[in-house]
Amino acid sequence: MAETITIIDDRTGKKVTVPITDGVFPSSALRELDPDLRVYDPAYLSTAACSSAITYLDGDAGILRYRGYPIEQLAEKSTFLEVAYLLLNGNLPTADELAKWTYDVTHHTMIHENMRKRFVDGFHYDAHPMGMFISSVAALGTFYDDAKDIFNKPALDRQTLRLIAKVPTLAAMAYRFSKGLSFVQPENSLSYSANFLNMMFKIGNDDTVDPVLARAMDILFILHADHEQNCGTTAMRVIASSNADPYSAAAGASAALYGPLHGGANEAVVRMLEEIGSLENVPAFIQSVKEGKGRLMGFGHRVYKNYDPRATIIKKTAYDVFAVTGKNPLLDIALKLEETALKDDYFVQRKLYPNVDFYSGLIYQALGFPVDMFTVLFAIPRTAGWLAHFAELLGDKEQKISRPRQWYKGPDERDYVPIAAR
Ligand code: ACO
Repeated sequence: MAETITIIDDRTGKKVTVPITDGVFPSSALRELDPDLRVYDPAYLSTAACSSAITYLDGDAGILRYRGYPIEQLAEKSTFLEVAYLLLNGNLPTADELAKWTYDVTHHTMIHENMRKRFVDGFHYDAHPMGMFISSVAALGTFYDDAKDIFNKPALDRQTLRLIAKVPTLAAMAYRFSKGLSFVQPENSLSYSANFLNMMFKIGNDDTVDPVLARAMDILFILHADHEQNCGTTAMRVIASSNADPYSAAAGASAALYGPLHGGANEAVVRMLEEIGSLENVPAFIQSVKEGKGRLMGFGHRVYKNYDPRATIIKKTAYDVFAVTGKNPLLDIALKLEETALKDDYFVQRKLYPNVDFYSGLIYQALGFPVDMFTVLFAIPRTAGWLAHFAELLGDKEQKISRPRQWYKGPDERDYVPIAAR
């Protein structure tokens, strides 16, 4: 039997019955009852702002799938570029399609010299790399006169290719600038992730990158490539809905990602672990979190009320990396925190489990990234997801410019008072 919901407006006795499909009913039902009726839903806890065919997430069951494929299978068998293709195109590429896509991305990794000389060089010496990343992604759009031609598919495909190819170069540039190191040009013989590591850390003429570390980077990129309607992706869609160009939208999405409650959490996790300092301080730290004196960073999620499946894969990847780099000394503190929290009623009752950020920072640190690069490492692969949502939104006939309503609680009309009389 088809599921329906009946809403009765007790003020008027008017009622409306609408279908529930996959747990969703249309808000047009409320407009039918009364066009001025509003749902008050701060932080969109009960609002599906769009339909999407990109990523499926079941937070209670700890399931994450891109275009139907379980994240565990993609992390084990795929590569980031193949996953990016999947997110953007809906299906896994054939061998020819993947070869062309890889060739195209690899051959669009360079950045206009002015970007480096005039733009990146203009930052203060200690600028946060995420601030540099956000602004340089926006600035990149000014180099392409077809950037705004978003309803022209070949033009939009070009921007997509450019963004995915160039964000690692911009990220590495921001890092090398902050270290006072000369920039490293992209190396076409390397994979996407190996090339990024090379642009980050190359010293002298050696372009070799440890394959275990390159694979770990690629897995982390796969895990971060999309996560449906989170804060950053929602920002991407909202900006796209005004038909802004994808560079400006990706810069806005990156800004949303920057905050410590979102992509900034992995940086906050490492800072927290450093502050805890040693195993014997773990119980006192957990106690302080329970007393409301801060949060256990890397724990909890709006949607996952179970172990974040990405955290499981990351934890395993961490051991592969540590086998090459040596163990990150903060790992023991992280393990002890996890063990303590998962046994503690406070965390159990609130269904707080490790999220993707709990272990990722430890790997990044072992790979040699400073903590202020962590959110940039999230933004690189998420660019693929953002662009998939950008294109999906533009093609969705049910969408219009995003424009939520508000519940006004300010003062009623009052007369202006001259300053001398206040
Ligand atoms: N440590 C301690 N308590 C927590 C934590 C935490 N990490 N997360 C949630 N809680 C508590 C809250 O205090 C609240 O308790 P209460 O009911 O007694 O008031 C309860 O759990 C529910 O928390 P909310 O803040 O309502 O949950 P929400 O869904 O709004 O927040 C969020 C989710 C922001 C991720 C939150 O869990 C958090 O701040 N975690 C730490 C930051 C973090 O790791 N962010 C990364 C998320 S993953 C990502 O963005 C890639």
